Amino acid sequence: MRVLVTGGAGYIGSHTVVQLVAAGHTPVVVDSHVNSRPSVLPRLEELIGTTIESHAFDLRDADKTSAVLAEGCFDAVIHFAGLKAVGESSQIPLEYYDNNLGTTFALLRAMERHGVRQLVFSSSATVYGETTTVPMPEHLPTGATNPYGWTKVMQEQILRDVAATGTTQVALLRYFNPVGAHPSGTIGEDPQGIPNNLMPFIAQVAVGRRERLQVFGDDYPTPDGTPLRDYIHVEDLAAGHVAALEYLAAHPDTHVREWNLGTGTGTSVLEMVAAFEAGSGRPVPYEVVDRRPGDLATVYADPTRAEAELGWRATRTIEQMCADTWRWQSANPQGYPG
Ligand code: NAD
Ligand code: UFG
Repeated sequence: MRVLVTGGAGYIGSHTVVQLVAAGHTPVVVDSHVNSRPSVLPRLEELIGTTIESHAFDLRDADKTSAVLAEGCFDAVIHFAGLKAVGESSQIPLEYYDNNLGTTFALLRAMERHGVRQLVFSSSATVYGETTTVPMPEHLPTGATNPYGWTKVMQEQILRDVAATGTTQVALLRYFNPVGAHPSGTIGEDPQGIPNNLMPFIAQVAVGRRERLQVFGDDYPTPDGTPLRDYIHVEDLAAGHVAALEYLAAHPDTHVREWNLGTGTGTSVLEMVAAFEAGSGRPVPYEVVDRRPGDLATVYADPTRAEAELGWRATRTIEQMCADTWRWQSANPQGYPG
């Protein structure tokens, strides 16, 4: 299949590009590089041993988005592009709504115009809002607690409504906590500025870029008092996209379907710190500070639907997640060049 990968230079998109090629598909990347470096592209080409067609523009430019799809004979789109920082989304909500919804509108219109009928969408466990049900199955009601989360809930609803017309097949993939890197250590997560998420922060402490981790609260109702999350290796996540794409192609009667991509297991912050220290051989100093507003105690997926329907299951361990993150971080202490 020829697949347009929006946000293909970003963290999850870049890993998915590699797996698409390995599965015999042809990815074409569009990325504005608002949160990625163009230097990921030559690294991807080196990994896959061939050139990648890529375009640098903002997908909200409807004419450019339409022009790419017009040229391509595309079978499908995987839509990763979006802004994703929860805290920032409360500071600049309009930018989040405009970017995340605007990219989706431009894509859907271009797909309709050029007869591209399949879309795999990056959703998030954030659409389960403040639910305390664990594990979390797909049929839980959706909601959100911040503008970023609302953009995902809204995009899911827009995609459901479009799929209901019968013109488009949509896979809504709800990721839990993506971590890790390609085992080569040449591509990985490269957050700009201070990392918001746990794993890149730990990795930057281990490599000496930051002094210590702040652990946001140790008085949660969990075994060691720190929150439990469902960390999933980005390589497993990437494989889930290939599985979803192939599912849509094989099931033309599926209009829209949600799938959780998680492991089904919760790991605490302190367990992650210990696993990273063991995997890297480096200390990760930390201090316990106040809770971060909005954090839930326990979040993990019920991944049975994805296993039953997509034949997909996460297989990589916390140890592999830490080892691969460390390989990437230690070889690229400052992230991608340029
Ligand atoms: P990322 O920021 O590394 O990748 C997103 C890419 O999209 C970036 O390269 C960015 O430059 C590009 N982009 C953003 N707006 C664009 C626009 N208007 N036009 C063109 N390109 C644009 O993020 P990621 O971690 O790879 O996440 C990919 C998707 O998965 C996002 O939609 C995100 O919300 C979702 N998601 C991520 C996580 C996570 O923890 N990483 C969890 C759940 C869902
Ligand atoms: N944490 C720390 N210190 C840090 C960073 C995080 O203690 O410096 C803790 C958090 O309190 C939380 C855990 O580590 O308990 C994981 O935090 P992350 O920020 O890595 O991940 P979240 O589960 O908070 O957020 C993730 C995605 C969001 C998504 C959300 C909802 O990053 O995009 O899951 O499922 F919205």
